[in-house]
Amino acid sequence: MKSVTELKRFKEKGEKISLVTCYDYWSANILKGTPVDALLVGDSVSMVMHGYDSTIHATVDMMATHTSAVARAQTGKLIISDLPFLAHRSSRSHLMKSVDRLMKAGAQALKMETAPGQENVVQWIAESGVPMIGHVGLTPQFVHQFGGYKVQGRDSQSYQKILQHSKKLQAAGCSAIVLECVPSELAREITDSLSIPTIGIGAGPAVDGQVLVLHDLLGFNADFKPKFVRQFAQGHDWMNKALTSFTESVQSTNFPKDEETFQ
Ligand code: KIV
Repeated sequence: MKSVTELKRFKEKGEKISLVTCYDYWSANILKGTPVDALLVGDSVSMVMHGYDSTIHATVDMMATHTSAVARAQTGKLIISDLPFLAHRSSRSHLMKSVDRLMKAGAQALKMETAPGQENVVQWIAESGVPMIGHVGLTPQFVHQFGGYKVQGRDSQSYQKILQHSKKLQAAGCSAIVLECVPSELAREITDSLSIPTIGIGAGPAVDGQVLVLHDLLGFNADFKPKFVRQFAQGHDWMNKALTSFTESVQSTNFPKDEETFQ
C-alpha cells in the first residue's frame, strides 16, 4: 500500500489490512520485502526503543528522527507517524509545526489520540491536506487518566462514548481509525457503522485490519505477552542463541576462520 487512498479500497473489497510498527531503517529494510501493508512509526517507540515506561515520553524530535530513518529505507509502503503526547494541546501553531515536521520527515499520514470533543483538531489538520488516522479505546497517552492499561468500552456509557467519538472522527475527515483494547462487539459495531477502515489492536477479529508492535509479534520481548499479542516467532531466543554461538566461537578461536580473514 503506497498511500492512504488505498485504505478505503481495502475495506470496500473486504480485504484485511496488516500494519506493524516500524521505528528504524534496519527494520524498514526487512519489512520492505514482506507483504505487510503499512508501517506505523508509533509513539510506542519511546517504550520499545528508548526504555521509557509509557508513551508520554515521546517527543516531536523523537518521532521525526524515527520517521525519517524509516522513510530512508524507501519501502514503498504507507508510513503513518504518531503525533506525540500534548502535540495538539498547547497551541494551533505548535500543533501545525509538529505536523509539518513529521510530514517533512517522511510521514504520509498522521495518527492522533483524541478524546471526545477534540474532533475539530483532527478536522483542522485533515483540511490542511494531511491524511489523519484516529485512535480510540485504550489510548495509551491517557494511561494515567484510565488508571492503567485497561480495556475501554466495557460499560454502556463508555461503549457509547467510543462509538459516537469514532463516528465524529470519520465526519472530521479521518481516513481510518485504530481501535485499541475494546470489546470485540464494540469493534464490530464501529466497523459496521463506518465507511473508513478500522484497524484493531486487542479489538478482536471484526475489524478491517490488525496492527501489532513489531517487537511483540516477533517475540523479542520474551516476558511481555498481553492477551491480544500473538508471538509469530521467538525472536528473543533466536537472538540469544546467535549471540551465545558468536561469543563461544570467539572464545574458542573458532571465529574468524581463514576464509573470514584477509591474507
Ligand atoms: O504507538 C503505537 O505503537 C500504537 C499502536 C500499537 C496502535 O499506537
